[in-house]
Amino acid sequence: MNLTEYIESHRDAHLNELYEFLKIPSVSAKSEHKSDIERAAQWVAEKLRSAGMDKVEIVPTKMHPLVYGESLKARGKPTVLFYGHYDVQPPEPLELWTSPAFEPTVRNGNLFGRGTADDKGQVHIHLKALEALHQIEGELPINVKVMIEGEEEVGSESLWDFVLSNKERLKADALVVSDTAMLGRGVPSITYGLRGLNYYQMEIAGPAQDLHSGVFGGAVPNPLTILCELFAKLHDKNFRVTVPGFYDDVAAVSRAERKALHKLPWKEKEFRKTVGAPVLCGEKGYSIVEQLWCRPTLELNGIWGGYAGEGAKTVIPSKAYAKFSTRLVPNQEPARIARLVEQHLRKLLPKTVQMKLEVLSTGKPWVAPFTHPFFEVAHDALEKGFGKRAVFIREGGSIPFVTQMYDTFKVPCVLMGFGLPDENAHAPDEHIALENYFGGIKAIAHFYQGLATL
Ligand code: BES
Ligand code: MN
Ligand code: MN
Repeated sequence: MNLTEYIESHRDAHLNELYEFLKIPSVSAKSEHKSDIERAAQWVAEKLRSAGMDKVEIVPTKMHPLVYGESLKARGKPTVLFYGHYDVQPPEPLELWTSPAFEPTVRNGNLFGRGTADDKGQVHIHLKALEALHQIEGELPINVKVMIEGEEEVGSESLWDFVLSNKERLKADALVVSDTAMLGRGVPSITYGLRGLNYYQMEIAGPAQDLHSGVFGGAVPNPLTILCELFAKLHDKNFRVTVPGFYDDVAAVSRAERKALHKLPWKEKEFRKTVGAPVLCGEKGYSIVEQLWCRPTLELNGIWGGYAGEGAKTVIPSKAYAKFSTRLVPNQEPARIARLVEQHLRKLLPKTVQMKLEVLSTGKPWVAPFTHPFFEVAHDALEKGFGKRAVFIREGGSIPFVTQMYDTFKVPCVLMGFGLPDENAHAPDEHIALENYFGGIKAIAHFYQGLATL
């Protein structure tokens, strides 16, 4: 049996095994899921062993364990470090799921469930590709180090400590990640750029306690109103961020790259359908693709305070809160942007209230050349898996770890994503297209096999 036949004949087995993984509610943000997180880590460790890794460890951290495994028996062959995450986003709002978040269900060629696309389904693609190679060749044809963390969705705090204290051990010729998306259906993609981010939380404090809005309204500052006024001032009419200096370090996109981006088979009609908003808006002077991939943003993610329950409650809230984020592009420095944002907010803030501002997580943007021979192998492997030539894309999401690895180890980072932009990552009805899950296993198995011929 050859590699392709092996993978083809194991479709049902692979899918059934993925169901097991998806059924574990490994939500990293909530402490009530601590034991599920442990279970997911153990599940991954077990599958690494059956994929032929000899040293498999569950590494405890300050928060959630990470799973590490390696197989280093291919003398003289390349070594890759594969990174992924087994934790998932909270499933809420539960009532908006067509089938329950942790009961994987196939509908219309798509597998639904939390983590199907981000990132359990994609991690499983690698586990099964490695296992297939191990079965067919008796031994893995390249050296593989695998690191699957459980804190990605909450900022990967423990990950970098582990990397720094295991620098020698983690050395590799390339970093391989599948935690991104394809440009569209039937368009296999290699991602060479990601945005960075700062995630902020703000508290505006006014009166010492909530007040009756009839008895006190008109004479006291309302923190919620002030918060809204602040955020209304952060964009101008061209949808540019008004924070002074915000764009200072933004690298212009070269004409050649703009041209290449323009030629991608990206369909505005599909994008509009995915978004479902009546009209689009974005920074003036840039195409939508540039707005999404090459330009920085400031987005309000949530505001709360006062009363938002059923019926009416006439109250002036004592405090108002906001969560917001800035997506960053080369060469913006997250720390500098955080300073500029804070300075600007403090300047706009009326003296009648107090503001606390905290940066909850941060990550640098990443863009890198894709000229290394590994990318040719990746390109050919995607063609074997999908029967189509892959395109090179940037994306708007963030994987801070990729930048850290790229800056520290100076290795090529090969990002082959098998999600799709409309697969509802982080939202109800998250799913992955089965054709991409199965195509992914084939492509990744051929990728690892192809690297052995370099
Ligand atoms: N897999 C995503 C990142 C991603 C999504 C990259 C889509 C490219 C396209 C990852 O799990 C994620 O959600 N990252 C967070 C940031 C993180 C620091 C919490 C994000 O991008 O918001
Ligand atoms: Mn992810
Ligand atoms: Mn995510």
